Amino acid sequence: MSDVPEITPERVDAAVADALAAAADAPDTAALKKARSAHQGDGSALAALNAQMRHVPKDRKAEFGKIVGQARGRVAQAFQAREETLKSAEDAARLEAERLDITAIPQRTRTGARHPVALMQERIADLFVGMGWEIADGPELEHEWFNFDSLNLDEDHPARQEQDTFFVDPPERHLVMRTQTSPVQMRTMLERDVPIYILSPGKVARTDEFDATHLPVFTQAEGLVVDKGITMAHLKGALDHVAKQLFGDAAETRLRINHFPFTEPSAEFDLWHPTFSGGARWIEWGGCGMVNPNVLRAAGIDPEVYSGFAFGIGIERALMFRSDVQDMRDMAEGDVRFSEQFGMVV
Ligand code: DAH
Repeated sequence: MSDVPEITPERVDAAVADALAAAADAPDTAALKKARSAHQGDGSALAALNAQMRHVPKDRKAEFGKIVGQARGRVAQAFQAREETLKSAEDAARLEAERLDITAIPQRTRTGARHPVALMQERIADLFVGMGWEIADGPELEHEWFNFDSLNLDEDHPARQEQDTFFVDPPERHLVMRTQTSPVQMRTMLERDVPIYILSPGKVARTDEFDATHLPVFTQAEGLVVDKGITMAHLKGALDHVAKQLFGDAAETRLRINHFPFTEPSAEFDLWHPTFSGGARWIEWGGCGMVNPNVLRAAGIDPEVYSGFAFGIGIERALMFRSDVQDMRDMAEGDVRFSEQFGMVV
């Protein structure tokens, strides 16, 4: 017991002063924790002085007890206060360090994408609107008369046979899923006044296989012009313009003689481009021709005064050539990953 210092107010004050200095000097909460155990813990000067209480004579226990007790209280308070200060500074520093710019967090839900066929359809429509044409519309569930008869396709035409056309029950209503956008030609001529410059994009249906080059439902764009003095040169010029706008200046078109009942003469038209996959080559893109006088007459338009041209092009085919889509089924299956490859632009 002799090597343990006796309790004296000076010793207590010195221990308190050391402890307060250590608390004040601690730069962070980790250092403070160490200082606290050195100055407040079991091995501390204050603890040693406190342990001496039992050697203090009874009559002075209260006096010394108060001195030591107050000293310990001050030290505890000082550490407590310092801890609060350091902790809030550290919290503030951590918040600053961990600051997140939530505006920079990428969106985690998929936004999806417009369908490339819809984008291509709009792009083609825009080209014609740019030439001053109007967009016309017609029903996908169509009357046989519009789809066939009015277009000079008689009862025996092969396209009317079951293998091509989806006939809709009951048969006596004579409804079909339109097999082409051409019925919009007649609807337009009956509804609008000449001159007519329209494009009509839309879905058509045929009882085709579902394979890499056929879809039972696909998209066409029908063009129709009826005006005075319209010739095949106007048709060729319009097709050339659209081909170059869509595929670039190197694109060419050519007409190959063909037969369609609603045009006379009729042609198939092909597209040529130096960079088509598979090399520079001609690819069939649609049908066209000068509107058959019988069709004009059925619409009440005098073929002696007016003439016109018409064409029908495949939108999916345009997308295939332009974006090198190998399998048409990708366009029908609705997998958003297919659409996402195109973004919002085809
Ligand atoms: N309707 C035809 C088809 O689907 C394409 C076509 C050919 C449209 C000649 C026309 C045309 O307007 O004049 O095969």
